[in-house]
Amino acid sequence: MTKKVRTAVFPVAGLGTRFLPATKAMPKEMLPVVDRPLIQYAVDEAREAGIEHFVFVTGRNKGVIEDHFDRQVELEITLHQRQKNDMLQMLSEGLPKPGQTSFTRQQEPLGLGHAVWCARDIVGNEPFALLLPDMLMRSKPGVLSQMIDSYNERGGNVIAVEEVDPKEISSYGVVGRGKGEDNAFDITEMIEKPSVEKAPSNLIISGRYILQPEIFDLLSKQSKGAGGEIQITDAMVKLMEHDRFTGVKYDGHSFDCGSKVGFLTANVVFAMDREDIAEEFKSELRKVVKELFNDVSIVD
Ligand code: UTP
Repeated sequence: MTKKVRTAVFPVAGLGTRFLPATKAMPKEMLPVVDRPLIQYAVDEAREAGIEHFVFVTGRNKGVIEDHFDRQVELEITLHQRQKNDMLQMLSEGLPKPGQTSFTRQQEPLGLGHAVWCARDIVGNEPFALLLPDMLMRSKPGVLSQMIDSYNERGGNVIAVEEVDPKEISSYGVVGRGKGEDNAFDITEMIEKPSVEKAPSNLIISGRYILQPEIFDLLSKQSKGAGGEIQITDAMVKLMEHDRFTGVKYDGHSFDCGSKVGFLTANVVFAMDREDIAEEFKSELRKVVKELFNDVSIVD
């Protein structure tokens, strides 16, 4: 019998240097894709998967994330007076229920593994989901829901993976694939940012994990790895020595919104998904694409 995954951890304490100067005073996780901040997409994905407790590991300049998941009473009064009921409903739907959020601080950005370790006391002795909000997922059902299905059958630890062009492999954590189907296969090895020659596959870890609480002990002993940071992958390699890891090659597509190109592409694709603006946006896009590429055939 597997223990239910009730808690999700969102590490949001990184410096977001690839987005400077936008991220000098504003958290990267608040960058909007169309009209919703990245962190909102991740929280919605977790809620859809049945998560009841949302733990944010924040840092300096991140207070606005806490405000985002709080009520804004003045705004609500104004919207109420203007009878903007649809907006009021949309705002209340995005909010976790009272008491469902916790915030802790990573005082120094020492790496993703260290950020996760900062959540140890809040998570306690339970399995938890870990979602990196700058990896934006486009999938139905959500990626975490697909992982929970596999977790409920197999228990242990679960990692979402996707295929990338082998040329890009050395920027990511990579897994080796053993027995099983796409929706649940054994992970045989894991390596952070390998060279093309050392990569065991072209399947990369794409920012969604379900982990057993033993990871916290391993993280507390974990020394710095790639990039001089405490890496979650290094601690997972140790956990794999005595616990099962399942890979889920999920149905969907991810956008690395920590990179400029990924973020811009996500905005285009998510705008196209939106019934309220898709038509108008498409016609604007047609015009600029014709102009920019000077090639009518691209869009006709
Ligand atoms: P990234 O690897 O994208 O790092 O973090 P970053 O520092 O935010 O961005 P760049 O590379 O400088 O542009 C992935 C996720 O892990 C969090 C980030 O906030 C992001 O959500 N993170 C990273 C932490 O919480 N703490 C850290 O020390 C590092």
